Amino acid sequence: MRKRTLSAGVREQLLRTARQVMKNAHAPYSKFRVGAAILTTGGEIFSGCNVENASYGMTNCAERTAIFSAVAQLGPGLEIHAVAVTNDHGVPCAPCGACRQVIYEFGPDAIVFFQGAKGPKQAHIKELLPEGFRLL
Ligand code: THU
Repeated sequence: MRKRTLSAGVREQLLRTARQVMKNAHAPYSKFRVGAAILTTGGEIFSGCNVENASYGMTNCAERTAIFSAVAQLGPGLEIHAVAVTNDHGVPCAPCGACRQVIYEFGPDAIVFFQGAKGPKQAHIKELLPEGFRLL
């Protein structure tokens, strides 16, 4: 597990971006807006919100929206340095299992910032997803 750090300034910028994009969430069913921002190893930031659907299972989480948007812009060489996740209820909200696997695909050493049970938390993706799946 490679140790990665982030300056307080960049972390705040990432969280600000996540809070901003959260406003664009399409969440009429859960009424739970989520925003995510990812920092690439190249220093670029991409963001995404949750997009729900009347057929609930079609819902896309904020984290995956941000990552898929980054891939659409940069191509499959995306490398994630860090991820920040926020929600509009101020409650604990770690990335769901599916999003952990998608973060792992592009960021096997990513740092993840999210709201934990006792306040803001930071964790390595491998702490959140031990034994992540890889084909290559
Ligand atoms: N959600 C996310 O966007 N990210 C997460 O990490 C957890 C859950 C969304 C999906 C759904 O729109 C809403 O939160 C309630 O589950």
